[in-house]
Amino acid sequence: MVKPAQVTAVKGFHDLLPDESARWRLLEAEAFEILSSYAFEEIRLPIAEKTELFARSIGDATDIVEKEMYTFTDRGGTSITLRPEATASVVRAALEHGLIAPDRERRLFYYGPMFRRERPQKGRFRQFYQIGAEVLGRDDPVVDAEIIVLLRDLLGRVGARGVTIELNSLGDGECRPAYRERLRSFAAVRRERLCDNCQRRLERNPLRILDCKEVRCVEAMAGAPLVLDHLCVPCRDHLATVRRLLDAAGVSATINPHIVRGLDYYCRTAFEITAAGLGSQNAVGGGGRYDELVAALGGPPVAGIGFAIGVERLAMVADALTARSPRPAVVVAPLADDAWATGLTVATALRAAGHRVELAAGRRSLRALMRQADRAGARHVLIIGADELAAGRGTVRDMERKADHPLSVDLGATGGEMAAQITRL
Ligand code: HAM
Repeated sequence: MVKPAQVTAVKGFHDLLPDESARWRLLEAEAFEILSSYAFEEIRLPIAEKTELFARSIGDATDIVEKEMYTFTDRGGTSITLRPEATASVVRAALEHGLIAPDRERRLFYYGPMFRRERPQKGRFRQFYQIGAEVLGRDDPVVDAEIIVLLRDLLGRVGARGVTIELNSLGDGECRPAYRERLRSFAAVRRERLCDNCQRRLERNPLRILDCKEVRCVEAMAGAPLVLDHLCVPCRDHLATVRRLLDAAGVSATINPHIVRGLDYYCRTAFEITAAGLGSQNAVGGGGRYDELVAALGGPPVAGIGFAIGVERLAMVADALTARSPRPAVVVAPLADDAWATGLTVATALRAAGHRVELAAGRRSLRALMRQADRAGARHVLIIGADELAAGRGTVRDMERKADHPLSVDLGATGGEMAAQITRL
């Protein structure tokens, strides 16, 4: 018979094996604890949204919307997209459930998978996890500084090294249109030297040209006007205050006028955090202010700011966190069919008493069961063979010392008593 072929995971979608999952639990715990200490509340969002939500928020002319979204039409004819990010979803949900109003602050965080059909490489996946947070209803620069301090704290807590925080201002509805025209004119003169993508971006979204990694585009755009030099006074003041507050908080952030971000909803503050050990995909997290997004999605004029951290990347730089998936304390090994019921009762009683137990039943030899217990990494095996069953007392084998212990365990005892007898051996 022909052996059926194995099915493998979708390219760019990855599995997290048990030991890595254990590390992620530690990371999640650190992140949730910090977020909670900053008074963020968790929101759980669907992983799919109407496509229109992303087109209108992230922007039609971004790489994400143009070529990276997983979009399909469902059987009812609705165009649906697996979320490439969650800021748009937070705003959608906040509006839908009346969580925001112009004079009310709301702090929400989320955690979950995002989907972008990018070229997979180290630190870049097509399904990846983000921990993100959004503050809605605050337009003052204190909150910009506060969330950057939060990120600095989180990266410090998990042991990331070589952390850099880069900051820029993207201007606002007042100053950016004029800047965009200036940039467009600059790029238009150099059109022939730009890559095909950037030639297209020229009309629709010239700011994105500054983010292109193609050498020809970088060279062609050398000396391009920078938004930082064309900010209106309120935007300039805002940035200056953010910097002053970060200084006062002991955070060293450098200005990088080339940070334009890959999403169109930003205005004013934009930032990216990098850390050592990530190679070319070195942003662990990024974010910024989006004071016009809520209104653009049909809501009242409510300001917003937030960030997202890539959890795979955070795990790569979190040098302080080590963990293994926990091993069972006891393997219960009934050796014959008529010992199964007792094995199940004993395992259940031990579990109810709070112990981690593997029930290694099955028609297998004692040797095979011992091998299984060894692989599972258990310290003790409770053997229930015919003799043990008759006597009502199981035999305990200490796997570390590789010896059957002369003492045996009363199979009729409570889980707590049994566990005490086992671990006392
Ligand atoms: P973003 O910069 O697109 O921002 O993504 C944030 C982080 O997600 C990145 O810094 C990176 O760590 C991770 N990430 C992005 N794409 C991938 C990928 N293909 N593979 C692995 N990790 C990836 C946002 O998503 C905004 N929603 C952040 C935000 C929240 N801005 C305001 N509020």
